Amino acid sequence: MRILLTGSTGQVGWELQRTLMTIGEVIPVGRELSSSGLFIDLSQPDTIRHVIREVQPDLIVNPAAYTAVDKAESEPELAMAVNGTAPGVIAEEAKHLGAGIVHYSTDYVFNGNHTTPYTEQDEPEPQNIYGKTKLAGEKALQAVGVPYLILRTSWVYSLRGKNFLLTMLKLAREREEIRVVADQVGAPTWSRMIAESTAQILSHGTQDLIGFLRSNSGIYNLTATGQTSWYGFAKAIFELDSKRNEHKLKKLVAIPSEQYPTPAKRPAYSSLDTQKIFSTFKLALPSWQRNLELVLS
Ligand SMILES: NC(=O)c1ccc[n+]([C@@H]2O[C@H](COP(=O)([O-])OP(=O)(O)OC[C@H]3O[C@@H](n4cnc5c(N)ncnc54)[C@H](OP(=O)(O)O)[C@@H]3O)[C@@H](O)[C@H]2O)c1
Repeated sequence: MRILLTGSTGQVGWELQRTLMTIGEVIPVGRELSSSGLFIDLSQPDTIRHVIREVQPDLIVNPAAYTAVDKAESEPELAMAVNGTAPGVIAEEAKHLGAGIVHYSTDYVFNGNHTTPYTEQDEPEPQNIYGKTKLAGEKALQAVGVPYLILRTSWVYSLRGKNFLLTMLKLAREREEIRVVADQVGAPTWSRMIAESTAQILSHGTQDLIGFLRSNSGIYNLTATGQTSWYGFAKAIFELDSKRNEHKLKKLVAIPSEQYPTPAKRPAYSSLDTQKIFSTFKLALPSWQRNLELVLS
C-alpha cells in the first residue's frame, strides 16, 4: 500500500512517518522539494493535484495544517486556503484514484460553552479564524464522498516544534515567576500517541483498507483522556521536569484569560469525549498525565 503523507515536518506528521511504516510504503511530501522532485503547498491547489497524480497513493494522510492560531486572525485567506480548501482538493483527487483519506481536525471547532466533553454529535461553532477554517476543511472533505477518517485532537505537544510544553520548559529555566491561564480547560495530547493510535486504527483494515474506511467513515475524537487547564498542565510539567532538571522558577500563578489577551479567542472548555473511537476501534486512550510522564521521563 502506498501512503502519501503531508506535514511530515510537523509534530504529528513527524511521528506518523514511523508509525505508518507498519501499514505500507510511506511517501512524505512537504513544502521542500523532495529527492523525487515533488513538493506540496496546500495553499496552491495545483501542487496538491500534481503530487497526488504523480504518487498515485492508496491512502492520503494529511496532518499538515495552518496551525498558528493567533496569526490566522491576520491571515484568514491563507489559513482558509490551507485548512479549509485544501482538504476538499485532496478529497477530489483521492476520489479519482479510489484512495482513502485520514485527516486531522481540532477541538477549536467548538464554542467552549459546554461543561462536559463534546461528542462527535455536538454542533460545532468555532470562535476564531483557525477553528472556522478547520471546520470548513472537515466539510469540504466530507462533501466529496470519499472513504475517510477525520480525527479531531487537541492541545498537541511533543519534544519538537513549537508547543506549550517546550515553551514552559524554556520559561522554567529563565524566569522566577510564570503566569498561566487557568480558565481554559482541555486535554493535552502527545503527538506520538496520535500517530500510534492512527496506525493502530488503520491496522484493523489492512486486508481491505478502502472497505474499512468506507464502513467506518466519519469524525472521531482522538485525545488523551482526562482534562485540565493550561495552568494545571504547566504545574504538571514543572513538577515532573524539576525532578531531573534545575529550574529558576519559584512561583506559578494562575490567571484568568483576560489577563493574557491573544488575537484569537479560545474556547473556555474544549474537552472531547473519546467513547466513539474506543467503541469503534477498541482504542483505549491513555490519560494526559500518563503520557506526560512518559515524555518527561
Ligand atoms: N497543534 C495543536 O495544538 C493542535 C490542536 C488540535 C488539532 N491540531 C491539528 O492536528 C494536526 C497536526 O498538527 P501539528 O501540531 O502536528 O501541526 P504542526 O506541528 O504545526 O505542523 C504543521 C505541518 O503542516 C505543514 N504545513 C503548513 N502549511 C503548509 C502548506 N501551506 N503546505 C504544506 N504543508 C504545510 C508544516 O510544514 P512546514 O514545516 O513547511 O511549515 C508542518 O509540517 C493539524 O491538522 C492541526 O490542525 C493541532
